[in-house]
Amino acid sequence: MCGIVGFIGGEQAAPVLLDGLRRLEYRGYDSAGLAVFGEQQGLQLVKAKGRLAVLSDLVDGGAKLEGTVGVGHTRWATHGEPSDANSHPHLSNSGRIAVVHNGIIENYMEIKEYLQSQGVVFHSDTDTEVVAQLLDYYYQGDLVEATFKVLHRIEGSYALGILCSDHPGQLIAARKDSPLVLGYGEGCNFLASDVTALIKYTKTVSYMEDGELAILTRDGIQVYDALLQPVEKERSTVDWDIADAEKGGYEHFMFKEIMEQPEAVRKAIAPHIQNGQVVLDGLGLDADFLQSLSRLYIVACGSSYHVGVVGKYQLEQLLRKPVEVVLASEFRYSNPLVDENSLVIVISQSGETLDTMAALREARRLGAKTLAIVNVVGSSIAKEADYVLYTWAGPEIAVATTKAYSTQLAVLMLFGIWTARLLGRLTPEREAELLGEMLRIPDKIAEILRHTEEIQYYASLYFNHESIFFMGRNLDYAMGLEGSLKLKEISYIHSEAYAAGELKHGTISLIEDGTLVVALASYAPLFDKDVSNVVEVKSRGARVLGLTTRSRAEEMAKHADSLIVIPDTDLMFLPSLAIVPLQLFAYYVALMRGCDIDKPRNLAKSVTVE
Ligand code: M6R
Repeated sequence: MCGIVGFIGGEQAAPVLLDGLRRLEYRGYDSAGLAVFGEQQGLQLVKAKGRLAVLSDLVDGGAKLEGTVGVGHTRWATHGEPSDANSHPHLSNSGRIAVVHNGIIENYMEIKEYLQSQGVVFHSDTDTEVVAQLLDYYYQGDLVEATFKVLHRIEGSYALGILCSDHPGQLIAARKDSPLVLGYGEGCNFLASDVTALIKYTKTVSYMEDGELAILTRDGIQVYDALLQPVEKERSTVDWDIADAEKGGYEHFMFKEIMEQPEAVRKAIAPHIQNGQVVLDGLGLDADFLQSLSRLYIVACGSSYHVGVVGKYQLEQLLRKPVEVVLASEFRYSNPLVDENSLVIVISQSGETLDTMAALREARRLGAKTLAIVNVVGSSIAKEADYVLYTWAGPEIAVATTKAYSTQLAVLMLFGIWTARLLGRLTPEREAELLGEMLRIPDKIAEILRHTEEIQYYASLYFNHESIFFMGRNLDYAMGLEGSLKLKEISYIHSEAYAAGELKHGTISLIEDGTLVVALASYAPLFDKDVSNVVEVKSRGARVLGLTTRSRAEEMAKHADSLIVIPDTDLMFLPSLAIVPLQLFAYYVALMRGCDIDKPRNLAKSVTVE
């Protein structure tokens, strides 16, 4: 996926575009580019492989580009390697039309071959260039008409920003299956993949829908539907500030977002807890439907999938109904046993993950009701699901998710407790008890965060290991999956998470002198078994970094080489606490290895390709 931004107004466009791209760089960062139109210099195009800083240096922070209208792009390569030529914007051969694009044009090869047969020469390996060249091909003086024709010819997903030197008083935007936000300023207007790019300039936005096309001028924005009929867009006000999208004195977004977790979790749960009960007003699901459910599915990718693994353990305990947790990329191709008696819960921070979106559509096609747990307001998944619960974590910029993960956990638990009451599976006393403890979770997370130096010390002991195992049972196993993913994605250390009882069925052969095993032993009912597994791996030479609750710390300390201790809590909420030191461990290890923590190699914040 990539980030796109567009600006049209009275001030110099390039610095504004670069500022927007800086905030979108988490979406992709292998190359970047700008196209700006100026009265003197016409259409100026600058693009460069590498981080945004390379582009910014080339144009002296934007000062070198004259003009008050332009588009910019930061890329995560899909078609064609990262290179200057494959960077966006792509320019049509007439030199008139510049295009930035997020998404994938699926039938680009067929269009490219057709245009080549007509003598059009291509200059990149990208799918996007066909849009620029096809616009040129159709263009006869009316850019909107040409765009309309192109949108009917291309297949796939796109958020497009189009600038034409014949029409410098306007920018064109179009969307299908790729996010695009319009921003309304004073004497200027914006388009962007994400509100973070424009929040510094305006908080008044509207979210484009699939099939819509927008014409931006200095003075206004007119949106049209797929039949080119004018659409009145609802405007909304973004309820967070630019400071939320800045590092605020922290060295990395990831660390800032880890530290924001107490507040984020509080904001996610507090409005839904009233008088000892979960309140999900307006959700729309009713008790009869929930009662009729034969099965629940949780479908997601990456860390959001790991929330689902936790959720399976928790929801099955609470609801006594089967819960299947399935990777979104597998779900859609597995002919799932989903029908009108199923509820499919999709979890996604970004609300744009393509596999999750496809799974959601498949579930709906099969007749299931769908509930989305999403962070980004107005995202595609939030729009398409039957029911939505927002996590309200605020913008998450670091590629490695932390606060979004924690709020997803919290919101899924709220849903579980609420449903359990509707199904008559929870007494009012137990509900009040659970919620009382849930409201204490933010403080307990804050308590863990007051001792970061301890985790930093353990990271200094273990950061040079090349292979690390996580093991645990039940909820500890689910935590291990996420702890391991955090570590590998930002520190590039090979790491695997195992259900502790499974280790002896093969993987234990990899344990040798000095291998680091992170032994998660917070789940009290299985603590003795956890200890046995620690003894097993230690007797094969492993070094053990243990994690347990305060009440079991003394016992665990007898077996582990190092020990992380978390506050005691109800079993249901252990994951909300246990994940925090694992996030910190991954962070400090990556820091000590000199990794680019917020922008790990080969990754992007949301994955809008298959
Ligand atoms: O936006 P989503 O929650 O749908 O993203 C799913 C995964 O791509 C995401 O959780 C990914 O695994 C993160 N980089 C993990 O930190």
